Amino acid sequence: MSQRDLNSATKPDRGNELKHNYSPEHAGDSLTDFESIKPSTKLESLNLNWREKDLPERARTKHVHRLHPYLGKFVPQLVEIFLRKFEPITVCDPFCGSGTTLVEAAALGINAIGCDISEFNTLMARVKTGRYDLELLEREVNDILVRALSVSQLRLMEDAAPYNSNDYLEAWFAPTALTSLLSYRALIEDYTYQDVLKLILSRAARSARRTTHFDLDFPKCPQTEPYYCYKHSRICTPTEDSAKFLRRYSTDTVKRISEYAAIRRDVALLTITDDARRAQLPKFDLVITSPPYVGLIDYHEQHRYAYELLGLPWKAANEIGPALKGSSLRAKTEYVENMIESFQNVKKSLTRGGRMVVIVNDKSGLYDEIQERVGMSLETRLERHVNRRTGRRAGAFFESIFVWVAEE
Ligand SMILES: C[S@@+](CC[C@H](N)C(=O)[O-])C[C@H]1O[C@@H](n2cnc3c(N)ncnc32)[C@H](O)[C@@H]1O
Repeated sequence: MSQRDLNSATKPDRGNELKHNYSPEHAGDSLTDFESIKPSTKLESLNLNWREKDLPERARTKHVHRLHPYLGKFVPQLVEIFLRKFEPITVCDPFCGSGTTLVEAAALGINAIGCDISEFNTLMARVKTGRYDLELLEREVNDILVRALSVSQLRLMEDAAPYNSNDYLEAWFAPTALTSLLSYRALIEDYTYQDVLKLILSRAARSARRTTHFDLDFPKCPQTEPYYCYKHSRICTPTEDSAKFLRRYSTDTVKRISEYAAIRRDVALLTITDDARRAQLPKFDLVITSPPYVGLIDYHEQHRYAYELLGLPWKAANEIGPALKGSSLRAKTEYVENMIESFQNVKKSLTRGGRMVVIVNDKSGLYDEIQERVGMSLETRLERHVNRRTGRRAGAFFESIFVWVAEE
């Protein structure tokens, strides 16, 4: 495919060539000129140890990458690097999560397939990569907001007790917040861009939960009283309101989708909600993925509020390596078998000589066995120093990037 923007600058001489299998500390300049990556660029020469000043949050969360929070996203620029390096016709991400690979592919004129077990994650990916009549989108987003928050609509919801709520929603939202959310939800079916509206609703719901400000990812129980807030270093009170979030995210969503529409190319995109072990995938010539890791994150659970509010199917039992199963030897063995099954299934649709780029913090060293048993050869392994700066998860760790080639 020749529609890509691979035309500009040549690779700068950084004078800090790094060897295969490196574990670099922050030293020298990291790569920031992403357009300079060409098929001839040597992966081992790239310094991917970005510090905040090299690759600030606003660049990592540009346009649709911040349409909705999602724990476990990878850095979009990493995907961009490998798409520019390998120039696929079609890329597949069998664990596509919030759709980072698809978003980056469409911006470079590359077809993309994404698969994920979680219905909410594929909803996010679809909304991010959708094509929109932007005027209609803005009209709909504004119209539902005005209608949902009108006095008569809210009164209707309050009177219609128990207005199709449930125990979870009533525990996690203050009555006023819940009324606005349910009022909005009841109107979604009147519009064309229902998935976008569902995402705005979910994002507002996430912010309006009765939680502490410092534990939005996995709050354990509703916070109904004022508390000492580690994030703001003062006493904070759980919110009673969701209308302000609905308003804020309506504006932000239209803005972000419009920004992306200006760079999104006309490519074929497919999003599948299925199990990577079994999904039937069309042909592709490159895989870029960051699979779930053993015992790390419960992907359905992190968006429980969205499942409850939108009535999405709950398939958490099919997640590979969920946190709730822990990281015991048994959990690791099960994980390895499930990953082998997934990659073997994915490999069936990979063209001859195609590559898989797998980005994972393999702290238990499981991926050599996975690669061998899937029947892939290791072309390159890079180590990237990841510096976490946010929230209470501060600390540093290394992330591996495996480049595998399909054995004949
Ligand atoms: C590390 S995340 C991927 C994040 C993604 N790279 C992004 O930037 O948003 C791993 C994903 O694997 C998904 N997953 C877990 N088990 C799965 C399975 N059996 N089949 C397909 N996807 C699965 C999870 O739902 C999660 O979204």
